[in-house]
Amino acid sequence: MQTRKHLLGLEGMPREEIQSFLDTAKSFLEVLSRPIPKVPILRGITVVNLFFEPSTRTRIAFELAEKRLSADTLNFAASSSSVLKGETLKDTARNIEAMRINVVVIRHSAPGAPHFLANCLKSSVINAGDGAHEHPTQGLLDIFTLREHFGSLENLNVLIVGDVTHSRVARSNIHGLTTMGANVSVCGPATLLPFEAESLGVTLVNNLDDALSETDAVNILRIQLERQKTGLFPSLREYRNLFGLTMDRLEKVGRDIVVMHPGPINRGVEIDSEVADSKYSVILQQVTNGVAIRMAALYHVVGASGLVESN
Ligand code: CP
Repeated sequence: MQTRKHLLGLEGMPREEIQSFLDTAKSFLEVLSRPIPKVPILRGITVVNLFFEPSTRTRIAFELAEKRLSADTLNFAASSSSVLKGETLKDTARNIEAMRINVVVIRHSAPGAPHFLANCLKSSVINAGDGAHEHPTQGLLDIFTLREHFGSLENLNVLIVGDVTHSRVARSNIHGLTTMGANVSVCGPATLLPFEAESLGVTLVNNLDDALSETDAVNILRIQLERQKTGLFPSLREYRNLFGLTMDRLEKVGRDIVVMHPGPINRGVEIDSEVADSKYSVILQQVTNGVAIRMAALYHVVGASGLVESN
């Protein structure tokens, strides 16, 4: 098993290490299917989940992963903390660490917040989403879900649709998938696609129907409704007409395409309900796999501290 003290992003992570996370997650997926889905691997380890932004899937998956590994878990919500009295991120984290914490899981609206904590704490830090920068455990769970479905990622055609520029999910997927040998395309309004596509190793496609005809799996991003006010796309109706994943659009392709979405879903905007709930969708499998990936993330960072035995 490959270990690292912090899990901050997938950019630059070597293929062998991504592979190692996926393999560990595969073993933990088996643990999750047991009648008693719990192992004592992180007994004695304390993890704090520092969430400065709302979350359903990531926060609960981390908490469940911690419990499944027998770690002690603490949850912090900025909205009911001394952050409201003006306490800084550094002071908040250092005070919590002084209570003898081993791992900090952080979600924050500021890109780089986990990297900042990694520099000022002795604990391991896991990035649970930092602004529009990265969401490495979401990237890993998406890649894991694809590997479970297709067996291999080499030359797999993956299409990411939507607001790629502002999406930490897209960035982590792009870094991880290209490292693993997949061909990644991105599709959406030109105002929501990244300028640096070439350096990211992805292909830009303007027409969703053309893009779908070449695709094995499509990852639909949530349209961040607040973006509409900034004039980056004209209306939700136009967005749905041009880039919404409808059943008509999917069936026109004439073969099965795997449909993914990191959640939360705007039904009837970026994806129709009948697609999200269809046989093509692996959205809830992504959520299940998310627990196994967070178990793997915790195991790998704690393994780097020498507090657990690596296999
Ligand atoms: N995919 C994801 O990050 O969902 P949450 O915001 O609910 O954690």
